[in-house]
Amino acid sequence: MRISMILALALVAAGTPALGAQSQKETFGKLADGTPVEAATLSNAHGMKVRVLAWGAILQELTVPGKDGPADVVLGYDSMDGYLKAPNYFGATVGRYANRIAKGQFTLDGKAYKLAVNDGPNALHGGLKGFDKRLWTIASLALNADSASVTMTYTSKDGEEGYPGTMQVSATFTLTESDELQVVYRATSDKPTIANITNHSYFNLAGQASGISATEAVLTMPAESYTPVDTTLIPTGEIRPVKGTPFDFRMPHRIADRLRDGHDEQLRIGRGYDHNWVFGKAPGESVRTVAKVEDLRSGRAMEILTNQPGLQFYSGNFLDGTVSGKGGIIYRQGDGICFEPQVFPDTPNKPQFGSARLDPGQAYENRIVYRFSVLR
Ligand code: GLA
Repeated sequence: MRISMILALALVAAGTPALGAQSQKETFGKLADGTPVEAATLSNAHGMKVRVLAWGAILQELTVPGKDGPADVVLGYDSMDGYLKAPNYFGATVGRYANRIAKGQFTLDGKAYKLAVNDGPNALHGGLKGFDKRLWTIASLALNADSASVTMTYTSKDGEEGYPGTMQVSATFTLTESDELQVVYRATSDKPTIANITNHSYFNLAGQASGISATEAVLTMPAESYTPVDTTLIPTGEIRPVKGTPFDFRMPHRIADRLRDGHDEQLRIGRGYDHNWVFGKAPGESVRTVAKVEDLRSGRAMEILTNQPGLQFYSGNFLDGTVSGKGGIIYRQGDGICFEPQVFPDTPNKPQFGSARLDPGQAYENRIVYRFSVLR
């Protein structure tokens, strides 16, 4: 890959010979019309590496140490071609409203809004050309004593994909020397609107090219309840206790263990897990752990923390072996699993789920931490 411009490159691991936090900007590829797509790469002294594309603020690479060395643990493509032809939301920043809005309709202050319908009868992940299919601007690269970060920005115009208000969005990715990837999404709007912005990375802690199903991992989610869905994957409105169901991850379970439980209607509707787990009623001030994923073979463990009230856990059910990703690996069902911190799907139509409203003068903020460690 051609490194066109090095914005910042520094050694900050004082006293250690290993390379410390680093950040640099490079050209990743081109859009169909020839527009270059830049990428920012962050790395730390433990061999972690993160690459974020200005296209869709996509997390293209996340290399993490394991017992037997490093591996890239997110699905994606080696070049822009794949992201343009079969995006699948691999690593993408999704918005303005992540997940589904029933029939692509909602009302705000008595006015009805109509969004593009792009998933059966519903609107999904921001519409036909959501934040994942837009060119962002690399606004800054920063290097601190114990972290490296990049901030990307995007302006979503009033009426874009049917949403009201011009929205200023930023995505900051920070890689720390304590092996955390922190992602913060912020947004403001000049008119009342709705916001739900998250990251849609598909994780496989065994390594994206390992050939081992991501559902082999052991998952813990300390949620008491989840939101069941109808056959179009819109929440029914019910908040259902997980107790006694395959949705109970309060104690650790290998994901694959209950994934094929045909007695559970919700697993049949979702073709696996594709549901929102309930952690609260509204976004909070601080982050707390919502999931822990452990791959016992490689020893890689990932904890996910967020300030959001919901977590969509999607077990990669629609991956069908038709796309080949990084290194020419074919991705099949369950090869990647997503954890999407969010407000609940269809909140704009379900007052009992809280609010997704963003008013002028307010600041939307989704804070996500992916914390990595190696099990010994
Ligand atoms: C989310 C949805 C899934 C699916 C994926 C993208 O996780 O909940 O149903 O649409 O995005 O394929």
